[in-house]
Amino acid sequence: MSTIKQSTLAAQAKPVTAPDIQSRKGGEKICCMTAYDYSSGMIVDRAGMDIVLVGDSVAMVVLGHDDTLSVTMDEMIHHVKATSRGVRHALLVADMPFLSYATREDALHNAGRFFREGNARAVKLEGGVAVTPQIEALTTAGIPTMGHIGLTPQHVAKFGGFKVQGKCVKTAKALIEDAQAVEAAGAFCVVLEAIPVEVAQLITDAIDIPTIGIGAGNVTDGQILVFHDMLGLFDRFTPKFVRRYAEQGRDAVQHMEQYCKDVRATRFPADKNTIYMPDDDAVAIRKIKIKKKK
Ligand code: KIV
Repeated sequence: MSTIKQSTLAAQAKPVTAPDIQSRKGGEKICCMTAYDYSSGMIVDRAGMDIVLVGDSVAMVVLGHDDTLSVTMDEMIHHVKATSRGVRHALLVADMPFLSYATREDALHNAGRFFREGNARAVKLEGGVAVTPQIEALTTAGIPTMGHIGLTPQHVAKFGGFKVQGKCVKTAKALIEDAQAVEAAGAFCVVLEAIPVEVAQLITDAIDIPTIGIGAGNVTDGQILVFHDMLGLFDRFTPKFVRRYAEQGRDAVQHMEQYCKDVRATRFPADKNTIYMPDDDAVAIRKIKIKKKK
């Protein structure tokens, strides 16, 4: 198995904390990426990412569901645990799944599980004004919390699909209120998903915590993408705001096809992939006669 080269920066820097992220407001852009297991966590961490989010997008890009609603706390913990084994430097954020923070008590109980069982060092939850009691409860308990407003996929049924939010002045104003409420409740940063750049600019100027954009233009304090989207591993649909840096899904199919051809043509395994006995044993074993059992 090949090893992945670790960048000097990622190898030497101390682990990133939520206060480190909060202090980056208006400074160097914050780089975030999702990951869902040991190997994706390790790749993202070694690239020098600031935040690794184990997103509930796992439901779609890893588990094959149509939306994020069906992933459970137990499934999320499984993925957070695995990812934490690959992440040494970045801040590991666990995404609270649908209905896992319906009340303050649920939020505390489930975020506590992410910390104790999954080694997460922050959580993310979706919503603005409506979830400020939960954000307050979490931050009071010492759990750094990331907000998420705009196109919040857990509200896909209410929105009637994965639709851009805040396109008119009225809804844009509501988003600004949401961002301010999330900040006042104690969040250390907030994700802005699928909103016009003009609104993202207003929000970024209106609050003192970093904004992390996905489909919010280049005016936010940081950016986040979904691992499978940016590597071309998920092609059911690609939103306009995704940049595909690779076509690894297509490339992987080609490699698999080549493997099938090699196996069928007996080109694989080659001599260098074959295990041989020491010479004496190889000679001795050729003399053994084995009778087939009837
Ligand atoms: O679940 C997820 O991947 C997310 C990001 C898109 C922010 O919430």
